[in-house]
Amino acid sequence: MATFCHYTIVVITIFFFHLVYCSVTATSNINNNNGGFSANLIRRNSPNSPLYRHKNNKVFRRLIGGDMLGYPLQTDPISGMHILKLSVGTPPSDIYVVADTGSDLLWTQCKPCNTCSNTNHTMFDPRKSSTYRNITCSEKECRFVDDSKPSSQSPSFCRKHPTRMCAYNMTYADSTSTIGVLAKETVTLTSRTGEVVTLEDIVFGCGHLTYEHVSTGNEMGIIGLGRGPLSFVSQIAPHVGGNKFSYCLVPTHSDPKFESKIHFGNGSEVLGEGVVSTPLPDDKYGYTVVVEGISIGNEFVSFNSTVKPLKKFKMVVDSGASIGHLPRDIWDRVITQLNKTLDPELEPSIVYDATQDKTHYLSFNSMTIPDEPKVAFHFMGGGKLELMAEQIFIKSPQDEKKVFFGIGSMDIFSEVNFGVFGANLQGNLLIGYDLDRNVASFKPTNCLIA
Ligand SMILES: *[C@@H]1O[C@H](CO)[C@@H](O)[C@H](O)[C@H]1NC(C)=O
Ligand SMILES: *[C@@H]1O[C@H](CO)[C@@H](O)[C@H](O)[C@H]1NC(C)=O
Ligand SMILES: *[C@@H]1O[C@H](CO)[C@@H](O)[C@H](O)[C@H]1NC(C)=O
Ligand SMILES: *[C@@H]1O[C@H](CO)[C@@H](O)[C@H](O)[C@H]1NC(C)=O
Ligand SMILES: *[C@@H]1O[C@H](CO)[C@@H](O)[C@H](O)[C@H]1NC(C)=O
Ligand SMILES: *[C@@H]1O[C@H](CO)[C@@H](O)[C@H](O)[C@H]1NC(C)=O
Repeated sequence: MATFCHYTIVVITIFFFHLVYCSVTATSNINNNNGGFSANLIRRNSPNSPLYRHKNNKVFRRLIGGDMLGYPLQTDPISGMHILKLSVGTPPSDIYVVADTGSDLLWTQCKPCNTCSNTNHTMFDPRKSSTYRNITCSEKECRFVDDSKPSSQSPSFCRKHPTRMCAYNMTYADSTSTIGVLAKETVTLTSRTGEVVTLEDIVFGCGHLTYEHVSTGNEMGIIGLGRGPLSFVSQIAPHVGGNKFSYCLVPTHSDPKFESKIHFGNGSEVLGEGVVSTPLPDDKYGYTVVVEGISIGNEFVSFNSTVKPLKKFKMVVDSGASIGHLPRDIWDRVITQLNKTLDPELEPSIVYDATQDKTHYLSFNSMTIPDEPKVAFHFMGGGKLELMAEQIFIKSPQDEKKVFFGIGSMDIFSEVNFGVFGANLQGNLLIGYDLDRNVASFKPTNCLIA
């Protein structure tokens, strides 16, 4: 039930942010490129996979990995994870944080830490930093974590104790949880062009307790790139020339040593030939696009909701899901159309994964990825994104004679009006979110060299 439950909860959170929405402003000292900057995203590479553990949690982690899909398409479950290296404090202390478009808070483990994941790096010690400042209960930033306050620190607690520290308690879909205090710090990072970007007074969580965080030794926290006011993207927006960012992820099957890229602010626009843009629906939380249909070759396959009379559905852009997912209604019709298009000698057949993920897939007999049919997403606003064969078809990791269609349908998608634009569909695309204009853009790009 994982995805649906999380999504529902995220939707509830949206209303919360609508109520309290206002901005947190960091100060900064960026004197390069009219404010914008780019950084490398290191891919996580380890045998430890923080599998989604189907619990009723608060925040759905996206952009990050954690393979929510088991057999038969379980390739490298952690390859979808992307890590950003930052420094916090004065003098600076390096932290490695997992990029997450599904949440807002930037947090890192802090000394003293009772239960923390082991890391191969020195943990940040706020007592040794001259720029560290605790945020108190009465400050406005503290209200942004109202939904993730420890039970002992309700809003009424804060009214009674305005000078106490602002505590937070965040739990993610994969069961990672962090408890600590909200604070402000100077954050620095080295851009791809080698410039040092200094961002002062960034609100972050100093985590003094971490649970169930499966670490490879390299991650020390999470950087939230969501749409809420505490998000890193929102906080730096006034200093980087706009509330926008883009990223270019190398395909998940490529060598993990190749780094992906992320761009913030001015210069992150997705421009030029081949750009497909679509309005971003007003989900204040997370990134979704609206799909009107899918074409298989020249045949347009429409959506006809089994839930409500709807002709469009939303897809959550989530590279934490290794493959794409569609609502069952359109998936069934896409499969029928694919079956008509593929050579019958390939013997296309439906595979059902009856393990916890309960997903239908289409597989067929082939040693190679076929060039045809072409598969394209038709987004709201008329944009048509044609995917490359390597995005849409995946060679079976278990059986070299089989190829899978890279979009499945989990049982929980049988009666919902949304799907997941998973990691396989995002590789080699420059994907941008312009939150000043509420537009998402996609551009086919070779992310290995771009
Ligand atoms: C922040 O709060 C903690 C816990 O109360 C305290 O030990 C620490 O001294 C405070 N730090 C600063 C810089 O005020
Ligand atoms: C943090 O939140 C979790 C899940 O909501 C809850 O079980 C736990 O008791 C909370 N911890 C504290 C210290 O409030
Ligand atoms: C962390 O350190 C341990 C022990 O030194 C080492 O085995 C492991 O490979 C390191 N992990 C990373 C990600 O560097
Ligand atoms: C963005 O950068 C361009 C040139 O790269 C510059 O002309 C423009 O003024 C910048 N805009 C902002 C808002 O900084
Ligand atoms: C769409 O679904 C409705 C209700 O299930 C049904 O009456 C209608 O015939 C369907 N339309 C198409 C084009 O399949
Ligand atoms: C594909 O079409 C053939 C011929 O109509 C049919 O026998 C087969 O069951 C179909 N397979 C799938 C997966 O729909």
